[in-house]
Amino acid sequence: MPSLPTLSGLPGLAVLRAMGRDRSLLAGLAAMRKHLGNAFQIILPGFKPIVLVGPENNRHILHTHRQDFLWRTESDPVSRLLRNGLLVADGELHDCLRNVMEPTLLRGPVHGHIPAFWSCTASITESWTEDGVVDMLVEMRKAALLILMETVFAVDFRPEMERLWLPVIRSVEYIAPGAWLLWPGMPRPGYKKDIAALDEYLFRIIRERRVSYAETGELGDDLLSVLVGHQENGEGMDDDLIRDQLMTMVVAGHDTSTALLAWALYLLGCHPDALSQAQAEARSVLTNDPPTPEQLRELTYLDTVLKETLRLYPPLPVGNRRAAHDTEVGGYPVPQDNRVMFPIYLTHRDPALWDDPESFCPARFDRSQGASAPPAFAYIPFGGGSRNCVGATFAQVEAKAVLGKVLRDFDLELLPGKVHPHMATTLEPRPGVKMRVRKRSETKDS
Ligand code: HEM
Repeated sequence: MPSLPTLSGLPGLAVLRAMGRDRSLLAGLAAMRKHLGNAFQIILPGFKPIVLVGPENNRHILHTHRQDFLWRTESDPVSRLLRNGLLVADGELHDCLRNVMEPTLLRGPVHGHIPAFWSCTASITESWTEDGVVDMLVEMRKAALLILMETVFAVDFRPEMERLWLPVIRSVEYIAPGAWLLWPGMPRPGYKKDIAALDEYLFRIIRERRVSYAETGELGDDLLSVLVGHQENGEGMDDDLIRDQLMTMVVAGHDTSTALLAWALYLLGCHPDALSQAQAEARSVLTNDPPTPEQLRELTYLDTVLKETLRLYPPLPVGNRRAAHDTEVGGYPVPQDNRVMFPIYLTHRDPALWDDPESFCPARFDRSQGASAPPAFAYIPFGGGSRNCVGATFAQVEAKAVLGKVLRDFDLELLPGKVHPHMATTLEPRPGVKMRVRKRSETKDS
């Protein structure tokens, strides 16, 4: 069996140059892919991932041969933070957790959350001063965090926002790619205090829900209540296992949405015609009241903007797995335990799959204009197969409601300044998305 291509000599310098120029690891991966093709291996001390790009490789990893790949790597910070959370669980535990949690995130329950998506957005935008400048990366994080807590956990996070802002950000930062990839066991004491503060809060809301259940005998249909009330063979879930699911939701359920919302506003800010069209649509369809699901469905242009944003800047730009045993992909050997990466970002920008892949073109998703669906596994912002994003419906309805409200109520202007995609835990627009916001007179006092 041939061995995987690796980088050496002059192409290696070209990759370093690309990374330096764009200040992005993704630029390095793109340069490697250009020189080495859709399957290659990175060889660094202690870090030798196999990188697989394109729909066929995605299908292999996520669908047809998914049993050959595991999620969890015990020494990764993500496993240490999320412990037995759905995202990092494999096998039977994964499937059991998914069966319990998924029903709370299906279309019906998500539609019930639309008024909360709307009111949480309002409580963030009402602090925007007339003609003020806000950083949408920060503002959208506040909105996404409030929304997640209010809908998925049924708690009011407003009183805690200031105190827990840093603990949440630091917990998310803890799992961002970094030097630990090269030195898996490296000590990282600087995060302990903040993770403990977030843990303390999560254990508190679990306790409070148990007490209220004991007192009233009633539980809501939010995820926290479902976990507290879940019984299997006469046994409930313990606090630790519930904490792991809550921590998973805090990380996976708000940081990704933050990135999508901030990038969408950035792209609209860069494309004034698209911004005008999205605003005109929001203003013709939406009123002061929380929208109905049908009204959100009518935001068809915004829908194409969101899809195109997820293509250009998938919040999870690189998927990761570990080979469960010695296996092969595309005729290349993959040894047991080897890390396997599938860069969604590169597939989404592959010129063989997309016309003019680097440009922002919402029309490529406009079926009413004859756009055809991308080939299977060519467009996977929410992953694919049985481990696809359990919050995909939630995220898409949420994004339409939040952006619909912002676009309806405000005129927006992107301030000049270079923004680059930074591979933190999600793909973030750094250093931020600074926008001037002006409340529209027609919607003032509404
Ligand atoms: C724009 C927003 C979002 C994007 C782009 C996104 C993307 C993804 C992707 C690509 C995966 C698969 C990862 C893999 O295969 O390794 C995933 C899994 C997951 N996502 Fe999301 N996500 C988003 C929002 C959310 C939300 C709002 C929630 C929760 C409310 C959520 C919870 C999860 C969980 C728990 C998993 C693990 C599922 C499993 O392993 O069964 N995500 N997400």
